[in-house]
Amino acid sequence: MATNWSPESWRNHEGRQMPHYPDAAGLAAAEVELSRQPPLVFAGEARNLKADLAKVANGEAFLLQGGDCAESFAEFHADNIRDTFRVILQMAVVLTYASKLPVVKVGRMAGQFAKPRSADTETIGGVELASYRGDIINDIAFTSESREPDPQRMLRAYHQATATLNLLRAFSNGGYATLDRVHQWTLDFMGRSPWSAKFEEMANRIDDALSFMRACGINADNVPQLNATNFYTSHEALLLPYEQALTRKDSTSGDFYSTSAHMLWIGDRTRFEGSAHVEYLRGIENPIGMKCGPSLEPDALIRMLDTLNPSREAGRITLITRYGYDKIEAGLPKLVRAVQREGHPVVWSCDPMHGNVIKAASGYKTRPFERILGEVRGFFAVHRAEGSFGGGIHVEMTGQNVTECTGGAIAVTDEGLADRYHTHCDPRINAAQSLELSFLLAEMLNDELKDRRAKAA
Ligand code: PEP
Ligand code: CO
Repeated sequence: MATNWSPESWRNHEGRQMPHYPDAAGLAAAEVELSRQPPLVFAGEARNLKADLAKVANGEAFLLQGGDCAESFAEFHADNIRDTFRVILQMAVVLTYASKLPVVKVGRMAGQFAKPRSADTETIGGVELASYRGDIINDIAFTSESREPDPQRMLRAYHQATATLNLLRAFSNGGYATLDRVHQWTLDFMGRSPWSAKFEEMANRIDDALSFMRACGINADNVPQLNATNFYTSHEALLLPYEQALTRKDSTSGDFYSTSAHMLWIGDRTRFEGSAHVEYLRGIENPIGMKCGPSLEPDALIRMLDTLNPSREAGRITLITRYGYDKIEAGLPKLVRAVQREGHPVVWSCDPMHGNVIKAASGYKTRPFERILGEVRGFFAVHRAEGSFGGGIHVEMTGQNVTECTGGAIAVTDEGLADRYHTHCDPRINAAQSLELSFLLAEMLNDELKDRRAKAA
């Protein structure tokens, strides 16, 4: 167990990106109420995810992490949850089928509400107000009242997370995720995408394989894995009063776990030395992600790893690199070399989203699909050259047919961004772009695996 740590020890450290609640009594009351709520996840599940991630660290599985940039109260709907879940399953099937590696599925869902912002305030038409920080903190409407942090929002976010997770658990275990239904996962509007024909073809081949297995006596009655899937949840551990209230001591091990999600990550803006967020995360036993952007130097990374994973447990740490398509090949090798030299077991995952945001001529924030692909290509190129395993992808995506990122096979144009631009924060790839990404990713992953297997032989 971490020394000199308690669920509230982060309060003695520098906490950036957190709101100041004007109503201190209201905040204290909300924290008490939250701390009485049942846990969202169970410590044993977080341990299972850690074991799955240890396989990724060893090159025996692949991590697929995706979902909204920011969940919102307004977009909360069963159909949205189902559609995002379904696209993640589709992507996982593509990746598993192509690579023959198990895919560990983790949603940015059921708790991804708080957002770090590059500026504390936003100015529109000469009026300056506090920035929107996610629905768990304040409201996106541009009025001073809406932008005031409201502690009761933590309870609403918690209840929305529980309902979301309940549905995800039902989908994962209630037969929806059975491979027999792989054809039915095709979304209507994917019909126009060249990739949906490829998906259909693969679904046919999976059907054939399942028919063959059935003929051999292998079916969902005697192999329950065919009927269910493991689906985990994650979010950025940003709003520490919320996280503290959902931190619980596990009765079987005596260790502290976050019960707000299976995996928590620390953002690029809060992973500095002396940070309250690092202090909080070092004491919980869940798997932890850390965003690594261009400002992270190898020495600082190693010190961070020593703090967050002193016992060098595989599966504990996932490094989520987010450089930008034009910076990754110059920036990433030095981190990989330092980690290899120190012998820290980590999962390397690629976030091709956060380094590739541009402002389109139309004024919308977007991410060109080509740049997203470019960063993924660069990620695999670096790991192949360094002999490390590029083992994961971290994407902001949705199952909805939105127009937020330009490009892709059914090209979203700059002018088309206005059609269905719904995100509360960063632009997400839509369902068709996500499927396309998974096919291209599968090719790159396969090249990486061939290379590794050849070297090992
Ligand atoms: C995010 O993942 O939504 C995010 C804010 O990322 P980063 O911390 O890498 O900027
Ligand atoms: Co984002």
